[in-house]
Amino acid sequence: MSRLYMIYHSETGHTHVLAELLAEGAQGVKGIEVKLVSADEVDYVEAARADGYAVGSPDYFNYVAGSIKTFFDRILYDERFKGKPYVGFSSHAGGGDVLTCIDSLARTCGLRRVGPGIATPGRPDDDDAVKARQLGQALAEAAKEISAPKAGPRR
Ligand SMILES: Cc1cc2nc3c(=O)[nH]c(=O)nc-3n(C[C@H](O)[C@H](O)[C@H](O)COP(=O)(O)O)c2cc1C
Repeated sequence: MSRLYMIYHSETGHTHVLAELLAEGAQGVKGIEVKLVSADEVDYVEAARADGYAVGSPDYFNYVAGSIKTFFDRILYDERFKGKPYVGFSSHAGGGDVLTCIDSLARTCGLRRVGPGIATPGRPDDDDAVKARQLGQALAEAAKEISAPKAGPRR
């Protein structure tokens, strides 16, 4: 079983809907377990055991929400997160580029990006839903790859 840890902040529900869509897409992949958590409630022991991450934030003044920044602050020096796949997702009111902020923070923390992420103006529409599910699926497949047992030497 491969594990995904999906962390998000949401006040009015838009980013939360995106998180659920990503989770839906990921759960369509066999052998994937998804944990969806508010960034205020991250269990860092459990997070470190995951094989991949989705990180989502509303655009707050062209930056991520404080709780999402705290997540990256906490994992910066933690070797257990290095090299693992992630995707970013964001909701905004028409401006900013929070995906770039998430990418910059995630890269600095040693995570490996899978796909371009998704950002929606307000609540995701039907097209966004398709893209979000696809992104969740791509993340799940990347997480399965890194958690698959490596082939041993031939005997
Ligand atoms: C404190 C604050 C700052 C915000 N700053 C921006 C901004 O700079 N650019 C923008 O497009 N939207 C901004 N917004 C709007 C939110 O990003 C947008 O409503 C988003 O969809 C909310 O996501 P949520 O429903 O998951 O809470 C801001 C909202 C708040 C509360």
